[in-house]
Amino acid sequence: MAEPLKIKVIVGSTREGRFAEKPARWITALLGKKEGVEIEVLDLRDYPMPFFNETETPSYKTKPYTDPAVVKWTAKVAEADGFVIIAPEYNHGYSAVLKNALDYVGSEWNNKAVGFVSYGSAMGARAIEQLRSVVIELGMAPIKYSVHMPFDVIMASSQGTPEAELFTSYDERANGMLDQLISWSKALTSLRS
Ligand SMILES: Cc1cc2nc3c(=O)[nH]c(=O)nc-3n(C[C@H](O)[C@H](O)[C@H](O)COP(=O)(O)O)c2cc1C
Repeated sequence: MAEPLKIKVIVGSTREGRFAEKPARWITALLGKKEGVEIEVLDLRDYPMPFFNETETPSYKTKPYTDPAVVKWTAKVAEADGFVIIAPEYNHGYSAVLKNALDYVGSEWNNKAVGFVSYGSAMGARAIEQLRSVVIELGMAPIKYSVHMPFDVIMASSQGTPEAELFTSYDERANGMLDQLISWSKALTSLRS
């Protein structure tokens, strides 16, 4: 039997009271219904990396970085076949903590597919468009489909709408994105071997 595909869900906000963990739980539950997938949530709160301060750039480093959070993070990225990034929009870009996490790793991102979930006043689309060009530079394959949600969803959440109801209208879109992510992740395993 084929090895399960390792899909990692990256939670791109670490702030107190963040919304990000809610769509992360929802996407993880939808992924859990897919065949042949092993899922892990990578919550950036669990990887408290300093702002990038290494003397060698990730792609050209001659020895591994030593910060324990960076070592742990790099190993998680290395073992993954594909990613879903949950990204907030901060000042029309994506979060600094997410950029830092992307910057710390080099070749371990290469030839892996990535899908996006965002939210905000323009449905987080501005953050995702920036992320798309960044992940291409990391040698990743950003898939076409993504899930974008309006600020109303964040408001509904803060007004007490239960998580089980918050995202149901996005299930179909999310399933389409996840199916595409799984197909691309499968296809790219042969490129990496
Ligand atoms: C520093 C900062 C900048 C923000 N800028 C934007 C923005 O440009 N566009 C937007 O739609 N929302 C913006 N917001 C509101 C966020 O969409 C909202 O706070 C959301 O909950 C952030 O995601 P998080 O809770 O997962 O961190 C901003 C929030 C913060 C904290």
